[in-house]
Amino acid sequence: MDQVTAAVLEAGKLFREGFEASKDVRHKGTVDLVTQYDVAVENLLKERIGKSMPDHTIIGEESADEHERAEKAIYIDPIDGTTNFIHKIPFCAISIGVWESGRPEAAVVYNPILNELFTAEKDKGAFCNGRPIRVSETSDLQQSLLATGFPYTKVERGRDFRWVVRTMENLLPYTQDIRRFGAASIDLCYVANGILDGFYECNLKPWDVAAGILLIEEAGGNVSNHLGDPYRLGDPVIVATNGKNHGKLLAKLAKYEEA
Ligand code: IPD
Ligand code: CA
Ligand code: CA
Repeated sequence: MDQVTAAVLEAGKLFREGFEASKDVRHKGTVDLVTQYDVAVENLLKERIGKSMPDHTIIGEESADEHERAEKAIYIDPIDGTTNFIHKIPFCAISIGVWESGRPEAAVVYNPILNELFTAEKDKGAFCNGRPIRVSETSDLQQSLLATGFPYTKVERGRDFRWVVRTMENLLPYTQDIRRFGAASIDLCYVANGILDGFYECNLKPWDVAAGILLIEEAGGNVSNHLGDPYRLGDPVIVATNGKNHGKLLAKLAKYEEA
């Protein structure tokens, strides 16, 4: 854990430098962007963490396939919230989740711009900048402040897009409000520390959620798929809450399979 955190703090310097600098922006898809900093931060983390944890397979967004899995895996999102990073919106982070036998063991999410470092280890609690964090107590969906995100596949106007729109129609009137901050790993951390009461999104990749899942579990919250089953990497929808409003949120989501 200390070595992963040290690597993340070091990579954070490069991240901050890139945030202020002008960037080369390349398109991975119509609106799915990548900069030289996404690649450089990932390479630095792979080099540092690969040395200290040689038994683990590193699965990084910029160099691996989203379907790749390993018995001992480290999922890395070098810059979660790349669109924010490019637009200088300070809501972006490095996200690292260490998984063994299909379960999360350790997690680090670091926003170097706001200087927020979220950490968790299995059965040892969740922390922000070293202080313990806990999910909120809100059980009433109408008084729940939620966050969501919009998948890059929206441009295809297929199932993901229909699910987003139908869910918004079903859910929005019954919430306090719904935010779209633009970095799933931080959305999950903000459920873990009680700023948000819940979060949901479709089509997230393992590196988006591998850290946040453990942070929420260790902070006393609940993470499932849209059917209410324990969330598994690759499931089409993630639903993460304080646990008290989980069922009420699930009941308002559109049926993904029918969207
Ligand atoms: C994205 C962010 C965003 C979410 C997208 C993700 P990226 O990750 O987490 O909040 O809505 O679905 O792909 O591309 O910035 O690493
Ligand atoms: Ca991401
Ligand atoms: Ca990314």
